[in-house]
Amino acid sequence: MLTEADSRPLTREVVDAVIARHPDRTGDVLGILEELQEAHPLKYLPQATLELVASLTGVARAQVFSVVTFYAFFNLKPQGRHTVTVCRGTACHTRGSKALLTTLEHAAGVQHVEDEDGTATSFTTPDHHLTVRTVACFGQCALAPVVTVDHAIYGRVTDHKLRKLVAALEERGGA
Ligand code: FES
Repeated sequence: MLTEADSRPLTREVVDAVIARHPDRTGDVLGILEELQEAHPLKYLPQATLELVASLTGVARAQVFSVVTFYAFFNLKPQGRHTVTVCRGTACHTRGSKALLTTLEHAAGVQHVEDEDGTATSFTTPDHHLTVRTVACFGQCALAPVVTVDHAIYGRVTDHKLRKLVAALEERGGA
């Protein structure tokens, strides 16, 4: 269950502690932001946290914002506690990845949302249990269709296997 505390900006103490681990605070703003995102319960960088990083490191606010918008691994919105990523490359599409994505959308009760080029999607369940993303190719096409759950990769994923993986996440909850 999402608590109000989960979505708050990181505290000054947490930001101070992370910055203190980086002696070259202006040169290592990328590493600082990575650590701060990892430290947030919902794996994202709230705007107030970005402002704090700018003021404490002396890096221009515009530069901090350009870093987090340039690198795809930075999140500016709250993420789920678990992430399922579905490959939408050609090999995986041919072997049913679209149907896997639809299964996840139905399980989450979420409408399909694609980027303008029709290749990328990302959504998070309202309770922040799960974020679903797509990628263009994992480079594991022989195992198509490929899905990752948190950091584990699964090949030749069927609808049944995917449902079992998602059910296992529900049993784990926020763990
Ligand atoms: S197309 Fe899916 S891993 Fe390459």
